[in-house]
Amino acid sequence: GTARIAVTGLATMGSNLARNLARHGYKVAVHNRSFARTKALIEQYGHEGDFVPAETTAELVASLQRPRQVIIMVKAGGPTDAVIDELADAMEPGDMIIDGGNAHFADTRRREAALKERGLHFVGAGISGGEEGALNGPSIMPGGSPESYKHLGPVLEDIAAKVDGEPCCVHVGPDGAGHFVKMVHNGIEYADMQLIAESYDLLRRAGGLEPAAIADVFRTWNSGDLESYLVEITAEVLGHVDAETGKPFVDIITDQAEQKGTGRWTVQEALELGIPVTGIAEAVFARSLSARVDQRSALQSTSDASVQVPDTLVDDVRSALYASKVVAYAQGFDQMRAASEQYDWDIDLGAMATIWRGGCIIRAVFLNRIREAYEKAPDLPSLLVDDYFRSAVENAVDAWRRVVTTAVQAGVPVPGFSSALAYYDALRSERLPAALIQGLRDFFGAHTYRRVDKDGSFHTLWSGDRNEIDA
Ligand code: 6PG
Repeated sequence: GTARIAVTGLATMGSNLARNLARHGYKVAVHNRSFARTKALIEQYGHEGDFVPAETTAELVASLQRPRQVIIMVKAGGPTDAVIDELADAMEPGDMIIDGGNAHFADTRRREAALKERGLHFVGAGISGGEEGALNGPSIMPGGSPESYKHLGPVLEDIAAKVDGEPCCVHVGPDGAGHFVKMVHNGIEYADMQLIAESYDLLRRAGGLEPAAIADVFRTWNSGDLESYLVEITAEVLGHVDAETGKPFVDIITDQAEQKGTGRWTVQEALELGIPVTGIAEAVFARSLSARVDQRSALQSTSDASVQVPDTLVDDVRSALYASKVVAYAQGFDQMRAASEQYDWDIDLGAMATIWRGGCIIRAVFLNRIREAYEKAPDLPSLLVDDYFRSAVENAVDAWRRVVTTAVQAGVPVPGFSSALAYYDALRSERLPAALIQGLRDFFGAHTYRRVDKDGSFHTLWSGDRNEIDA
């Protein structure tokens, strides 16, 4: 065969990725379960580059140069396994299967191990940027063997987004590292969106601003430290007017957020690793809560709390949004660091910030700062410890407290802002009430405690003479 690479699964993401490859001059073999879709792609976009339509998996594999590289763009789970099985049967040792979907990293680890036994490379690659990104340059997070990246890296770096000439693609680490990082990217995406949503809600319900005015606020925020794709499109969505009713578009959308699972996975994995990702967890739960229509309609009430809204509300919310965002990212990076240690992935956190600067949903100028922080100190214990972020958050903290106070008084839920503030306050506290929790555990279950003034474990004989013994 003569095709350089193949894409199977030609829904929008797959088609756009194939077109991106073709536009970059790669001869691309394309395949889809139903051939009609393949034909449609060739008819509509065949002129964009060198496509090789394949009707069957065997044909697809035969059309490729060696070592063969096939990117799978199908639904995560069962459908992905089915395609992998078919491909693997038709391939030869040294060939590569790349899963570009949002697979769970544990599935990716399992698949990588199984295919390695057969001499095949399996690469779980996170791809972010939606349909537009797939076509014009996504952020790509490939895992898998370093050997596979030698062949695949140049192609992926070529079609990825570029920021200051640098590609938004790097080898993340072996086996499931790429999909893990993509999962955390999505978790951060959830947190970021939740914080933006809380900002909007406060400006509207406590600040009395209309969506169009809030759109303008977000437009002005889209520069400096907050400049980002999500802030930019927030202005677009809030400024949009429903053609049918003439109402603000945001008012005609059902207020129940959906989710496909990557945010939930992030939190589940964080629980396993013991890493507090409270911003992501609150964002996932806020979506779940919004969907509990039964409870919401039973409790709904219009009684409004009266509140003194500070004149500085808009600027304060900006500060709260920024500081909370720093916390959410700090937590996400913390989780990647913990997983990297746990699974021996050796993830370069600065490189993750670098490849998220463009192409992906959370792309933002701010990621340059994160990159700088990890370049200065690769072992940084938390982003909040970095000089730049530390002083940025310190400067925002008064406004942040005013915002949370105002929200609480006004009855506007801000789980993202308030949990981020609680996380920050907890990390800064000299003493935490965890000491009391240890005391209670020792009281009811003889679970023992350690002392601040000497080594060892101790237990107090609570039901006896209350003397302390070595445990
Ligand atoms: C991306 C997006 C993409 C997808 C989200 C949506 O990086 O391009 O994150 O992967 O649109 O997973 O997730 P929910 O449907 O769960 O909101």
